[in-house]
Amino acid sequence: MGSAATIAASPSQVQAISLANDGVVLLDQVRLPHELRYIKIMSADEMRHAIVTMVVRGAPAIGIAGAFGVVLSAREHAKAYPDNVPACVLSILVDADLLAQTRPTAVNLQWAINRMKRVMSDFTGDVAETLCKALEQEAQAIFDEDLAMCEAIGRHGKEVVPKSAQILTHCNAGALATAGYGTALGVVRAAFQVDPTIHVYASETRPRLQGARLTTWELQQEGIPVTLIADNMAAWLMKQGQVDMVIVGADRIAKNGDTANKIGTYSLALLARAHNIPFYVAAPSSTIDLSIETGDEIPIETRHADEVAWIHDETICPEGIPCYNPAFDVTPAELITGIITENGLIKTP
Ligand code: MRU
Repeated sequence: MGSAATIAASPSQVQAISLANDGVVLLDQVRLPHELRYIKIMSADEMRHAIVTMVVRGAPAIGIAGAFGVVLSAREHAKAYPDNVPACVLSILVDADLLAQTRPTAVNLQWAINRMKRVMSDFTGDVAETLCKALEQEAQAIFDEDLAMCEAIGRHGKEVVPKSAQILTHCNAGALATAGYGTALGVVRAAFQVDPTIHVYASETRPRLQGARLTTWELQQEGIPVTLIADNMAAWLMKQGQVDMVIVGADRIAKNGDTANKIGTYSLALLARAHNIPFYVAAPSSTIDLSIETGDEIPIETRHADEVAWIHDETICPEGIPCYNPAFDVTPAELITGIITENGLIKTP
């Protein structure tokens, strides 16, 4: 992570991302659950690296990370061009575009960067430091709004959770993937407050294991009962009546309700339909992309083959075997029982 400085962890206040006066603090999600380590990101370039390597991940969190990355760029260029706002803006825009290209599927990233760009195009002052402050305010607003949206998603979502529900979730759509609280796990959190008898199954989420490493860890922090399963166990659980509902997050939702989320989500939706189990998506409105009609238009990130071929320091296949690693898939709207946003439940999307 280049010159990113390591700072002391604070286990009582676990937060994936926050803006500080001298940088951006990230909880290093690559190291969880073995190590709770926070790093300080000092430049837009370091932020790009953190997003690509998934030190910070999850659609809303990478949107926030993009906005905070623009702030880091503004702080640097405001020093270089204190009285030349156009030159400052040009330099920030270069960084903003590079940040926007780090991960293609989650629309939150482009959405957040576009908000930051709008602040620059609306700015009429001639002091770069003032522009910098305006960008900091916008980035913090994106963070604050995300937290509020996740809490509202939790409030609405808990209404669809049956008593003593057995809930299957995939990947990590929790506090770690957002400003805090989470989307799918926000619903779980809110439901657990009123009904502590609920129980979560977390699917491991090969190849990056967000379910195994992050979701189980996050729920364990709050004493929410969770059982880890391998990805290929979901059908059998459903068949045995051990799943009452599936709830997942989203990286991009098209106008017709087709939803991109972590690879493996589509198969869970098909399985849920086959077993007559409700399948919910929880996401803030910043994840909805009204510029595209259907999921066919969603760009799917393909990541490095080594993520499939290697587990920790060992390969799991003969050398030279080609591996395919799409990071997301698209679940057609007709398989989705409802989409829970901060504004309520959208049924039959
Ligand atoms: O590759 P990741 O870990 O960034 O993928 C994350 C997911 O797919 C989440 O389910 C999604 O971003 C929603 S997070 C609230």
